[in-house]
Amino acid sequence: MFGTIVSWQQTDKTVSIQFQHASASLLFLHDSLFRVFAPLKRDVFFSRAIDRLPETRLQCLNVQSVGKYIEIITASLIVRVKDDLQIDVYTSEGDLLCADYNEQRLPFVRRGNSELAKEEGHAVIEEARQYRTTIIKQMNGDEAFYGLGERPGHLNKRGCFYRNWNTDDPHPHVESYETLYKSIPFFITLTDKKAFGIFFDNTYETFFDFGKENDNYYYFAANDGNLDYYFMYGPQVADVIGHYTSLTGTTPLPQKWTLGYQQCRWSYPSAERVKEIATQFRSRNIPCDVIYLDIDYMDGYRVFTWNRETFPDPQGLITELAAQGFKVVTIIDPGVKKDRGYDVYEQGLANGYYATDADGVTYVNRVWPGDSVYPDFTSATVRSWWGDQHQSLLELGVAGIWTDMNEPASFNGPLPDDVQFRNDGYPTDHREAHNVYGSMMARATYDGIKKWTGKRPFVITRACYAGTQKYSTIWTGDNQSFWEHLRMSIPMLSNLGLSGMAFVGTDVGGFSFDCTGELLSRWVQVGCFTPLFRNHSAANTRDQEPWTFDERTEHINRKYIQLRYRILPYIYDQLWRSEKTGLPLIRPLMLHYQEDQLTHNLNDQFLCGDAVMVAPIVQQGQTVRQVYLPQGTWFDYWSKQVHSGGAYILQHAELDECPIYVKAGSLLPNNPPQQFIGDGDGQHLIIEYFPDYSGATSSYEHLQDDGETFAYQNGQYHLWQFSATCNDSEIRLELTKQSPDANWAETTSIGYKKIEWRIYDTSTTRVTVNGVVAEFQQSAHALVVLIDVP
Ligand code: GLC
Repeated sequence: MFGTIVSWQQTDKTVSIQFQHASASLLFLHDSLFRVFAPLKRDVFFSRAIDRLPETRLQCLNVQSVGKYIEIITASLIVRVKDDLQIDVYTSEGDLLCADYNEQRLPFVRRGNSELAKEEGHAVIEEARQYRTTIIKQMNGDEAFYGLGERPGHLNKRGCFYRNWNTDDPHPHVESYETLYKSIPFFITLTDKKAFGIFFDNTYETFFDFGKENDNYYYFAANDGNLDYYFMYGPQVADVIGHYTSLTGTTPLPQKWTLGYQQCRWSYPSAERVKEIATQFRSRNIPCDVIYLDIDYMDGYRVFTWNRETFPDPQGLITELAAQGFKVVTIIDPGVKKDRGYDVYEQGLANGYYATDADGVTYVNRVWPGDSVYPDFTSATVRSWWGDQHQSLLELGVAGIWTDMNEPASFNGPLPDDVQFRNDGYPTDHREAHNVYGSMMARATYDGIKKWTGKRPFVITRACYAGTQKYSTIWTGDNQSFWEHLRMSIPMLSNLGLSGMAFVGTDVGGFSFDCTGELLSRWVQVGCFTPLFRNHSAANTRDQEPWTFDERTEHINRKYIQLRYRILPYIYDQLWRSEKTGLPLIRPLMLHYQEDQLTHNLNDQFLCGDAVMVAPIVQQGQTVRQVYLPQGTWFDYWSKQVHSGGAYILQHAELDECPIYVKAGSLLPNNPPQQFIGDGDGQHLIIEYFPDYSGATSSYEHLQDDGETFAYQNGQYHLWQFSATCNDSEIRLELTKQSPDANWAETTSIGYKKIEWRIYDTSTTRVTVNGVVAEFQQSAHALVVLIDVP
């Protein structure tokens, strides 16, 4: 396709290469990060994932011709560019990381009578799919593949093939699904303990084969768009995620209440029913922060309207709920009802804000409201108009927006390829716009909420592209109340986290199909650790609120929802760190233990931050499971029994027990009991200390701020620094508080009056706090030290 190298030149950090048939360039952004670009479609920098390229951070860049190739050397990599834009990447020690594959493609042999198989409805896989642009990389042996956003199946994607084409398919999501709601064309390869990542920034339908066609190679491909990909070297997985999110952005710190428990249903049909639900939560002492209004709150599914028969006084309802500590989140779909006299439709039509057919006529398809039109979110003007539509909801007190059906979904066949979009100055068709439609809708909503409230927007979206993490949390769409889907949620959320999405969750209990008390009990044990913690169920399924099964299920829901509220300061801190590092809350164990091969295919355990490891029961009827504890010492969260890592253990866990382990040496901040975020005076913090007796000091940074606004970005917060050291004879505790904005710190009422330390597994007789001997009490498992903060 490119032909032989004709000439090259270096301009600053870019190496531009003229080949016989086309040109290409390599831009070095970091010693471990470079972009490969060939303008096959348009010769401009245009990305829906990257707002602006990060500042370059390079120690060195040496470029020279060596025989038939161009050799580019940075402080971490040796990159050789050959004819046909073949690129081989080595570490600076000369170990091969990634090389282009230049042999014939050799699909595995597939024997059988495909015509007959097709007749019975079996899927028949094409032998060697052909694309306009295909980048084929050599498989070197033991590569594992991760990332690529939301995928069914296992954590390691080796041997799998996927497409990126956002798809709303409510059938049970199974391993063979090539595509779901989200397109994140980014993957991480872990090989020989070294990780690198590739981000293929192309919004057309893209294809990823991780050795399904043949295990001598893997490829990524597209039928249109530029050749535009980024190579990023670790060697640590965390470094790769850092590079990826330096490009596409990190998840911003959310408002604190968004991390509380959320209750949803398609739909709570009336204000009365919503109030009933709220009353149940409070009277049953089950914490909850959010109640959702699904599509039936609207008038005939017209977005930005209310059904005044069933919701006669939305403001009254929202105010009444607010007094009980609840927030309301409403759904908004993109499909605008085609309806003369409906002002949203009319405004959009008058201004030409909708996608059109090839002749410029507004394109119509069918979704919930019947015939509907599709706002063109690829235009900044339309995004701004759409953002403003939320003003009325926000003024009523709606706290967040759920943007759904934005693949975009359509009931009357798929949108044709030639539906037209403005695309911010680069007019295009549906083929390029499809995979970013949801992301651009989320962006419009984010900007609208920010503009009208000044608070950190809470947006939840179903469809997304790389970079959507900047605007929205996501959930994994219409799962089912299947044990299989509970199991699948762990690798799925883990891979989403590796793909830059730090704020994620599934419909706890499962959306379609009927849940059981046992399944909900086990699901809530996983959900209480996922950043988005929302129970949701479909129309016509049995009730799924925590109390609707039996007393035991209710008790278990209460126990784990309460646990969530207890550890919420830890979760909030993790998300604050995530804004800086890009690291997710839900992490597969390989993220921290990549040297340990036993973590590479671990599908049913996960880390919550770096201190907590969860090994939930995800099989019906099971009460004993194998748990892998990686190196280190681990506390059983419940019994405080100590285990040595680097070993498998058999863990017993009755239905009300979820195996949870805390790494020795960790400090975990806790809330006292709460019914909702902001319940109580917020002046009491508990720090759990799980000592490791190494004599090393454990330390932890904790953020305390208003939990709602962007003021933390201007230094309006307290940064608590806790540290603890433990040996057989003494525990030394230290705490300090810094507040970057001194004026704010002097006037704010935000602060702690009491800090309570709970220290496990210790028989120490002497405790000091900031160097002064302190009193303590010994309870069952813990030594308790209560400190009054001056
Ligand atoms: C879609 C969503 C689901 C929602 C339903 C009705 O199926 O995925 O969560 O409840 O639409 O709005």
